[in-house]
Amino acid sequence: MTIRFALAKGRVAKKAIALLIELGYVFDDYSEKSRKLIFQDTTGAIAFFLVKSPDVATYVEKGAADIGIVGKDVLLEHPAKVYEMLNLNIGKCRMCVAGYPDRPLPYGKKLVVGTKYPVIAKNFFQTKKQLVDIIKLNGSVELAPIIGLSDCIVDIVESGSTLKENGLAVLEEICQISSRLIVNQVSLKTKRTSIDPIIKAFETQLTTDV
Ligand code: PRP
Repeated sequence: MTIRFALAKGRVAKKAIALLIELGYVFDDYSEKSRKLIFQDTTGAIAFFLVKSPDVATYVEKGAADIGIVGKDVLLEHPAKVYEMLNLNIGKCRMCVAGYPDRPLPYGKKLVVGTKYPVIAKNFFQTKKQLVDIIKLNGSVELAPIIGLSDCIVDIVESGSTLKENGLAVLEEICQISSRLIVNQVSLKTKRTSIDPIIKAFETQLTTDV
């Protein structure tokens, strides 16, 4: 029975595919440059496909994929009914509030926040009892405070270079983020014998990496 594996296009997919190859799966027609979206291993055990990161959780929740690898940021922003089985410790970054280092945020009045993560931002400022006006953006979020669209941003910080190159800095850390292995709730029961070895293999990989 082929296990369908959903991966988010981009940096983490490359690492996840490398991990699958290290685990012994052979994907004859896979190359980083390929525009194909689905790749089957030579034994027919696994087929992985590449989708936009928020869609990984959707594919797995609906059972169109049995397994997925997705950032914790996606799971926090779009809670899905899936089993979160493993913290893979790849795709590590931080969810942060960022802005101008020398310009204190006008706490007390309504803060304008630009973000790709409106749910995470809303929840964070709610716990601080801070009123916010959240502006949902789809990318280049660092531009918002520079142009004067927002007082600050809530975004992922990995190396920190995007903030630095735009004269911004981390003001507060919200949480640590890393990639998680998620599994469809029904698949875990009905395909357990095929899924377990894959999860075990990822687990072993993690232990040997430490
Ligand atoms: C992400 C994130 C930051 C940047 C952080 O953007 O939204 O802008 O990466 O990485 P860094 O700390 O290593 O600089 P992404 O590359 O996904 O592009 P986007 O602006 O199109 O969302």
